[in-house]
Amino acid sequence: MTKKILILPGDGIGQEVTASAQEVLNYLMVENALDFSITHMDVGGTAYEKHGSPLPANVLAEAKASDAILFGAVGAPQWDDLDWDHRPEQALLGLRKELELFANLRPAFLFNELASASPIKNHIIENLDILIVRELTGGVYFGEPRGLVTSESPNYAFNTMIYNEDEIRRIAKVAFEAAQKRNGKLCSVEKANVLEVSKFWRAIVTDMAKDYPDVELSHQLADNTAMQLVLNPNQFDVIVASNLFGDILSDIAATLSGSIGMLPSASLNSTSQGMYEPCHGSAPDIAGQNIANPIAMIASLAMALKYSLNEVTLAERIDNAIKTFIANGHRTKDISTDNNSLNTNEVAPLIIEILKNDSTN
Ligand code: IPM
Ligand code: MG
Repeated sequence: MTKKILILPGDGIGQEVTASAQEVLNYLMVENALDFSITHMDVGGTAYEKHGSPLPANVLAEAKASDAILFGAVGAPQWDDLDWDHRPEQALLGLRKELELFANLRPAFLFNELASASPIKNHIIENLDILIVRELTGGVYFGEPRGLVTSESPNYAFNTMIYNEDEIRRIAKVAFEAAQKRNGKLCSVEKANVLEVSKFWRAIVTDMAKDYPDVELSHQLADNTAMQLVLNPNQFDVIVASNLFGDILSDIAATLSGSIGMLPSASLNSTSQGMYEPCHGSAPDIAGQNIANPIAMIASLAMALKYSLNEVTLAERIDNAIKTFIANGHRTKDISTDNNSLNTNEVAPLIIEILKNDSTN
C-alpha cells in the first residue's frame, strides 16, 4: 500500500533543510522503487501569513491521514507578538496533541570527530550516546486549568502540571523498551522532592520496573540531572522525563554533542504514525543563506523510515552515510573548524554519492 509522507518545511531554515532531506528521499525512492506519495504544505508563520493560521485545518487533516510527517521548524521574531493561537509554535503543539504523539525520542550522540565542537572537555563527552524519551502531549504544557487573570489585583497567571497513571505508564513503557534494545539502563527524572505529580510519576515507574528485570532503573531529580549531564553524561543510557523537564534536558543533551544541527527527533503515537523533526529550530539569523546544516533533517528522515515507513535497512544506510560523510571530513559552517565549509545544498548530493557507493558494494 502507498505510504503517505507529508513534508511541512515551516519557517526559516526549515525550508532549506527539508529540501535536502527530500533530495535524499527522492534518490532512495527511485533506487528502491518505493511506493511513497509526498505532499507539501505550509505551517507556522509561513502558513499564518498565507492562510491566517499556523496550522490550517486542511494541513491538520492531511497530517492525520499521513504515515510520516517531516517537519522542518517554525518561528521567527516577527511573529513573537501575535496572540497565542496564531503563534507559529501552535503548529507544533497542535500537531503533537491532535495526533497524540506522546512519545518524543531525542537521541543525543557525539560523532567523535566533532568532539572539539563541543563546549565540554573531550574525555567527558567521548562516545556520548543518550536517548531522551520525553512525554509530549501532557504535563504542564497542556494541563487545565490554565490562564491569565487580569480582573484581580495583583494580576496572575497559572498552569497545571498533571499526569494520570495511563499517561505515565505509556511513556515509561516506551522508555523501558528502548532501554532493553540499548544498554539496559533507564533513568527516570522528576522533582519528587517537591511536586505531587513527580512523586506519583516515580511510584508508577518504580512499580513498572518489576516487568523489566533486565533494565536497571534509577531515579534522579531534574536539577541534578541537568548537572550530571554536564559532569558525567556517559552515566546515562535512556532518560525518561515529563514534557517540561524533557524539553529542558534535551537542550542540554543536544548541546553536549556540540552540534545541534546534527540531531534528529521522532514523535510517535501508539500506531506507527510519527512526526520527525530536527532538534534545532528555525534559526532566522541564518535563514535563506544556504549555510544551515541539513544533517539533522536527513537523520530525521532516517528515523521516519525506521519507525513509520517500515524501511529499517534504508534508515541504517542513511545513518551510515552520515557517519561516512563526517569521517570524510565534510563540514557545514556550524561544525567547520576552518573556512572551508559546505553550503546546505551541497550536502544531500554528497550523502547520495555515499549511498550509491554503499549499494554497489
Ligand atoms: C521543542 C521546542 C518546543 C517545545 C517549542 C518550540 C514549543 O522547544 O520541541 O523542544 O517547547 O516543546
Ligand atoms: Mg525545546
